[in-house]
Amino acid sequence: MFLFQTKVELQAYLATFHTAKQSIGLVPTMGAIHRGHLSLMEQSLQENGCTVVSIFVNPTQFNNAEDLAKYPRTLALDIDIIRSLSEQIVVFSPSVEEMYAGNTVARSFDFDGLEMEMEGAQRPGHFDGVGTIVKKLFELVEPTKAYFGEKDFQQLQIIKKLVEKEHLPVSIIGVPIFRAVDGLAMSSRNARISSEGLEKSTFLYQVLAQAKVLFQTESIEKVNHFVESQFKNNSTFDLEYFTIADEQTLKPATAKEEGHAYRGFLVAHIEGVRLIDNLSFN
Ligand code: PAF
Repeated sequence: MFLFQTKVELQAYLATFHTAKQSIGLVPTMGAIHRGHLSLMEQSLQENGCTVVSIFVNPTQFNNAEDLAKYPRTLALDIDIIRSLSEQIVVFSPSVEEMYAGNTVARSFDFDGLEMEMEGAQRPGHFDGVGTIVKKLFELVEPTKAYFGEKDFQQLQIIKKLVEKEHLPVSIIGVPIFRAVDGLAMSSRNARISSEGLEKSTFLYQVLAQAKVLFQTESIEKVNHFVESQFKNNSTFDLEYFTIADEQTLKPATAKEEGHAYRGFLVAHIEGVRLIDNLSFN
């Protein structure tokens, strides 16, 4: 496995692949590597001559200082986990100074309104921060393909929009959510939840799965009501929002329209940890 902390070192290593026109896969992460990240890396290893995994806790996408401070930083463990998947992976783990050169601010983007919905409304500026760092990484690595998990489905749609609007020569690959056998979506934040809390967190997937079944026959209003009542009867979780949205526009749906794909999006808190999940309803 190769570990680089500076842009110069990384670019020098990648130059051979660029010259030989070999495909490069990029898996951007903020570390705390889990099984979900590994599924992105596995796909990249299958599809590219070189796989780069970036590990960088990006300060500009956090609008809450406490959330940034508490974000798990487990580089040594992450490296061991990645190495046990493949010795061929290139890990890029830069400092904040290396990525932002003393100007740790996000650029402002227009993602055609995708950034206004759900996570964008709850976390102002979040997607400017994501767009800023992902664009920097694309310009640095010049990947052929970049892999993003569907767990952050809104982020995935926004990255596709970033690539379209900025004319970036990279294919964005969305990878399905990796779930534990009980349905819990893999997340770096799960590391902050007690084992009892994790057992209870399968509730999120169960509610989404039941909502999906209801969605086939009932109105959107009824499905929304069902989800809200499930959370009212469960004192373990605080529901932040549940929305059924159009997959393309991410706007909340009020009625089902022929030819549109819909997804249920859910955010809830347990033990002070904010968990997000989503499920295709089509
Ligand atoms: O999904 C994440 O972990 C982050 O938002 C990303 C894409 C690595 C950008 O910092």
